[in-house]
Amino acid sequence: MIISKLSYQPVFGTSYRKVYMSDKPHMLDHESSTCCFKNDYLWNKSFDFFIDKYDNTEKVHVYSLACSDCSEALSIAMILDTKLGNESDKYFPIIAVDNDDIILNKIRNGIIDLAPDDEVRINHYTNNNLNKYLKRTGYSHLSGRIGDTDNQKLLTAFTVSPELLKKIKVIIADVNEYVDTISDKNNLIFSRNMWVYLHPNQKAYLHKLSQKTDKNSYLSIGGYDEFMCPLTIKNMYGFSMHPELLNVYDKSGSNYFDDMRTFNKVNMRDY
Ligand SMILES: C[S@@+](CC[C@H](N)C(=O)[O-])C[C@H]1O[C@@H](n2cnc3c(N)ncnc32)[C@H](O)[C@@H]1O
Repeated sequence: MIISKLSYQPVFGTSYRKVYMSDKPHMLDHESSTCCFKNDYLWNKSFDFFIDKYDNTEKVHVYSLACSDCSEALSIAMILDTKLGNESDKYFPIIAVDNDDIILNKIRNGIIDLAPDDEVRINHYTNNNLNKYLKRTGYSHLSGRIGDTDNQKLLTAFTVSPELLKKIKVIIADVNEYVDTISDKNNLIFSRNMWVYLHPNQKAYLHKLSQKTDKNSYLSIGGYDEFMCPLTIKNMYGFSMHPELLNVYDKSGSNYFDDMRTFNKVNMRDY
């Protein structure tokens, strides 16, 4: 695998790395990016599970580590509010951390840029309540080219409702250091689609996350993390792959899915 230097797309307002396959260095394997309700996660199934799990827990600490523009943190806040209403207070505020000052600017001003497909997914996961959480402005622009294609997305600025905005606490920090300060128990940690950026210190970061993950905590990673997060190769630092929730890891102690994971990966190569 060949990882490009950090690039910046000024129009898209994001920095990213491109990952190329070692045996075919001209072929883009993937590029990390973000959006609301990214489709590498079982949002309904996972949150139904978490809600049930924490039914009798007084406080749940939710972290979006490497949160980018807060698409992920807003998705979490919206789905919890949709499913639980006022009962969701114990999950808030969601702590959203990123080390890119520029990428955090819009959410600090209560703004999120959405593409049309974001709107469809938000309506899907909020029972058609996008308008409760977000208000369309008249400002739209085209994103930069996506990956090595000519595709661009039409992004429209939406203002985030004050009620939703106050459910998120935005912090500028390096996650490698911030992780030392997080709670020791009842943690819902989202550290997704960011492992490529940590190269070559993924194991050190995972080790720290492990220290903050008790048996009532969960670590969620992303679909783009398949090649760069040590967990996708082998259970490590006490983590186990959840048997039903995609990209979710816990401390249940099972290693059964090591075999399953290797099997799946080998299988995928045939497609
Ligand atoms: C592709 S986005 C992931 C957004 C979100 N987690 C998701 O899955 O949709 C990757 C983000 O990681 C952030 N990042 C990379 N290294 C970081 C670090 N050491 N500390 C904090 N943020 C970091 C980048 O600034 C970028 O915003």
